Parts: sequence; C-alpha cells; structure tokens
Amino acid sequence: MTLTLEEKRARVRDLLTHNKATAGAVGEAGRALAEIPEEYYRFELWPAYKSLLSQRDTMARIRVANPYFRCHTDVSRDTLRIDDRDYLNFSGYNYVGLSGDAEVATAAKEAIDRYGTSVSASRIVSGEIPLHAELEGAIAQFHGTEDAVAFVSGYGTNVSTLGYLFGPKDLLLHDSLTHNSGVTGCKLSGARRISFPHNDLDALEALLAENRGRHERACIVTEGVFSMDGDIPDLPRLIDLKKRYKALLMVDEAHSAGTLGGRGRGIAEHFGVPGGEIDILMGTLSKSFASCGGYIAGSAALTMNLRYFAPGGVLYSVGLSPANSAAALAAVRKLAAQPGRVERLRANSALFLRLAKEAALDTGPSHDSPIVPVVIGNSIHCLKVAERLFARGINVQPMLYPAVPEEASRLRFFITALHRPEQLEYTAREVRQALALARADGAS
Ligand SMILES: Cc1ncc(COP(=O)(O)O)c(C=O)c1O
Repeated sequence: MTLTLEEKRARVRDLLTHNKATAGAVGEAGRALAEIPEEYYRFELWPAYKSLLSQRDTMARIRVANPYFRCHTDVSRDTLRIDDRDYLNFSGYNYVGLSGDAEVATAAKEAIDRYGTSVSASRIVSGEIPLHAELEGAIAQFHGTEDAVAFVSGYGTNVSTLGYLFGPKDLLLHDSLTHNSGVTGCKLSGARRISFPHNDLDALEALLAENRGRHERACIVTEGVFSMDGDIPDLPRLIDLKKRYKALLMVDEAHSAGTLGGRGRGIAEHFGVPGGEIDILMGTLSKSFASCGGYIAGSAALTMNLRYFAPGGVLYSVGLSPANSAAALAAVRKLAAQPGRVERLRANSALFLRLAKEAALDTGPSHDSPIVPVVIGNSIHCLKVAERLFARGINVQPMLYPAVPEEASRLRFFITALHRPEQLEYTAREVRQALALARADGAS
C-alpha cells in the first residue's frame, strides 16, 4: 500500500500523539526540540556519572587510591593476591571456603568436559542437563523444602521471582535494609510497596493491620542475615505474623545459607523451625556455594510455577552453566558432609566481633553472623582507614553513600571459615590504629 505524503504526515502525527500519551509527555505541545536539555541525551551529563567523577576528585584531593575494581589474581579466601602482594582478605563471600576447594573445582572441570561451557539454550527448550535437577534436589534437601529451582543469577532470582509472582493488586512489605535486588523485584511487580523500619516487627504488624485487607496477595520480604549490618530478623515472629495476616514470607538467605544454624542450613535452622515455614526461601549460589546463580526453595507448587513461567529465571534465559551447576552441587554436598566448616566460621565470626568490640569499634547490631561492619560514620575517614589497612596488608572494602547513609559509612568485614585467629587479632588491632590516625588527621 502506497501512502500519500499527507497520509504519511498524519501517521507520524498519530504516532507522536500516542507516544506522548503513553510516556507522560511534558505539557500539551511537548518541548520544542531546541529546548531539550543536553543531560537528556549525553551520558557525560548523567547525574550518577557526575557523582562518580566528584567521588574520584574527592579521592584525589585526600590522596587515596580508588579501592574499587581491584583486580585479584588467585582464589578469594582468607588471603588474596593483588598486584603481586598477598593481603589478608575480608572482602569475599567464600564463607565456608568451598571456592578453590579441589573437589568442587574438579566437579566443575568434569562438567565442562562432559557438557561444554554453556547449555546453549533455556532449560525449557533444550538446555536442561541432569545437573540442574540434581542441584535443585540437593538444595531442597539442604533447606528441608519440597523442591527448589535454580536461576542464573542471585540478583535476577529476586527480581524475577518478586516481579513475576506479584502484581498491582498485591502488597509487598519489605525491610528497609532489603538488598537492592529485592527492592527492584518489588518495584517491577507493580505491587504496592511499603518499606518497614529495619527489623521493627511492631511497625510491620501495624502496617499489616492497616493495609492487609485492601490487597489480594501480601508478602513480607526480609533477609536471613542483613548484608550491611550482619544482623538477623526474628523469624518465629515473622512466621506468626504472616500466618495471622494471611500473607506470605520471603527470606533472602544470600548471607545466611551456609552460615547460620548448626549445619549452615540457614535462618530456619538457627531458630529451630522447619525450612518449609518460609514460603519463598531465596538463596544465592555465589557465596557459601562457591558458584554463580541463585535459587528459590519452597513448595512444589511454587517451584513448578516459577520453573515454567518466571521470566528471566528459567524461562527466556539460558540455563545455569554446566560448570556453575556442578560447582554448586559439589559445594552443597560437601557442606552437608562437613558441618565443621560452619562451626569454624561461627567461631571466627564470634572472635572477630569480640575483638572489634574490645578495640572499641562500632560494630552496629551485628551478631551471630559472618558480616561484621565497623561503622566509621564519615566517608573520608572511611576511605583513609581502608587505604591505611591496605598498606598494612589488609583488604577490606569501604561502604559509602549511596550504599549506606553518609553517617553510616563503614568498613564491612566478611569473615570466613578459613581465617586464622592470629589474622583476626592482627586486623582488629590495625583497624583500631588506622581509625585513630584517620580521626587525628581529620581533627588537625
Ligand atoms: C542479600 C543479597 N541478595 C542477593 C544478592 C545477589 O546475589 P548474587 O551476587 O549472587 O547475584 C546479594 C549479593 O551480594 C545479596 O547480598
């Protein structure tokens, strides 16, 4: 069909009107092209980019090197090799020392030899390999749930699961310190999203009492161990609340699987409740399980639903790679067979927390977990302390605004089962000294 010039113009007008209506355009006539500011189409003027440049300038002004994207050249464990020097390492999640473990590495290599480096399709079409079901079975057994489903990314697990399961008529109540992946999943769902004050279950109950009845599904979203503060929510009370308010409970066990409970089975084991009491038990494969990917463990009805329909989880996305599946499977099995790793991790975490407190460091609400923050409360002091520690052979990351509020700037120590007591003692002493020096610098 050939259109006349007038018809073509009319079509373009229609299209523009439609785009304006759907994109919430600026006023009736829109902006004249000449008035569209450069920051709308030049990446150099993006606010986030500008704030990075300003952070870089601050680092140059106070003469500290950029602590981000440091490249390491061996396995991340209690030590880490950077630029040909070995550092004591507190910036990795290799909690129970299974990344770099010979059996885990062999399992991954054998999987590559057998299945290649990619499964080359989404699982639903023809990317399924036996390792997927074996891994999911092992995870379900580990957490005591009916089934589990593995995703290619931990971050993506939260985004896809929340984004897929909930919709505009639903209510999602998430802890204010929920990881960005959980918050992004809540936003993607289009559900009404309410953030409740961190671990304040009285506030959560008040919100449920006021809002539950106005929505179809409701879900409480929290974490097993909070990744910034290293504290743990009151699971039995959360279970009681979700039952009384006919809601669901989702717990992100990224940092609690493998670390909490006598055998590392996570927050449910820590509190002595069955894993099946958590409706949506999320975990990552990238931390205790020495791999990359994520999972949801729960009822067979939940996992089958996600397996067939969650976009970007299993559907519309390639299956977990053979090497990652095999490494995670070997790690889950090895951890189940060697609970002593969890015991060592717990002893190390308790020791470091005690040493930090004895050194009068502010460790916030951290308890019973391998995440021990040292809150410094000033990003410049924080950068300086991290840099001094690096010079003294300790690798620990500063967490600054916007990851945390400026007054909560901190160093975040991830403890592993591989650390030795003398490494922890040395580090606590060094942190105390570096902080005193940074504060003295700041005051002068
Ligand atoms: C609490 C929490 N959830 C989810 C994720 C995402 O997991 P992954 O890094 O495996 O994608 C992280 C990452 O650190 C996390 O801390």
